[in-house]
Amino acid sequence: MNNQLTMFDLSEKSERAAIINVASVPQRSPFRYPGGKTWLVPTVRKWLKQERKSVSELIEPFAGGGIVSLTAAFERLADGIVMVEMDEEIAAVWEVILSENNKWLAAKIISFNLTIDNVKAELNNPNKELHDIAFCTILKNRIFHGGILAKGSGMIKNGENGKGITSRWYPKTLHDRIIAIGYVKDRISFKTGDAFEVLEQNLENDKAYFFIDPPYTKAGKRLYTYYDIDHERLFALTAQLKGKFMLTYDDTNEIRQLADEYRLDYRTIPMKTTHHLQKNEIIVSDNFSWWTESNHR
Ligand SMILES: C[S@@+](CC[C@H](N)C(=O)[O-])C[C@H]1O[C@@H](n2cnc3c(N)ncnc32)[C@H](O)[C@@H]1O
Repeated sequence: MNNQLTMFDLSEKSERAAIINVASVPQRSPFRYPGGKTWLVPTVRKWLKQERKSVSELIEPFAGGGIVSLTAAFERLADGIVMVEMDEEIAAVWEVILSENNKWLAAKIISFNLTIDNVKAELNNPNKELHDIAFCTILKNRIFHGGILAKGSGMIKNGENGKGITSRWYPKTLHDRIIAIGYVKDRISFKTGDAFEVLEQNLENDKAYFFIDPPYTKAGKRLYTYYDIDHERLFALTAQLKGKFMLTYDDTNEIRQLADEYRLDYRTIPMKTTHHLQKNEIIVSDNFSWWTESNHR
């Protein structure tokens, strides 16, 4: 079974247990995100603190569930944060949460009566506005297997204790997370768009920190609607960045070869899953002065 998936196919309870394992990492995202990087947050904090002065700009070009951007916003690890995401459904969630409409979304979640018929009525509504798309995305992310929105995914049948679609629907928690993000939204700007374009536009931006977490080479296809990216081009662009960067990948020969080809330094980091499987991921960075091996165990 795929590790990225199992890691995030969690109940709220085990979600909390997993968090304790990686030190105190509050779960701030409304998404349960396949391939989410909550487990990497302690490392990201060190990376963002490497210059001992505040980071003026953090750019997260493949935002997904956005845990890194949210952590930076809440913990004031960066003055300004730019999130970019291409998937229109995920983008709708960020656009609404970071707008005045976030209260509408939070209230809609609290008041929604989760039955199969009500879900069908929401998903089949032919005239969806942006806030309706945002709501449907949150709904699908919570009631579809593994939180997967990509084609081929479907509703949870049995779920935890046979609770079916309600087994991962936590309206109060979702409401509170959305309202909380509203308090830091002025620090975050969101762009629906292409990571590659944003990287190209920022090649000379030497003040920025780039947290780059693309769909991976192996698991991407099943997990994301937009998975088919040009990995070589991403390495080529990353190698040209004047700012600081952290690029994460699955540990494969292909990725190691690309890093070598573009003369980029990397480290491996163990990623623990709930099933106690241990897999390594690769962290590519412009420098590793901030890296201490013992802190990643
Ligand atoms: C590995 S996930 C990011 C997970 C995120 N770091 C988290 O912790 O939740 C990669 C994301 O990149 C998005 N994506 C794929 N191609 C993209 C592109 N060209 N530009 C922007 N986003 C893209 C996918 O939709 C997916 O949400």
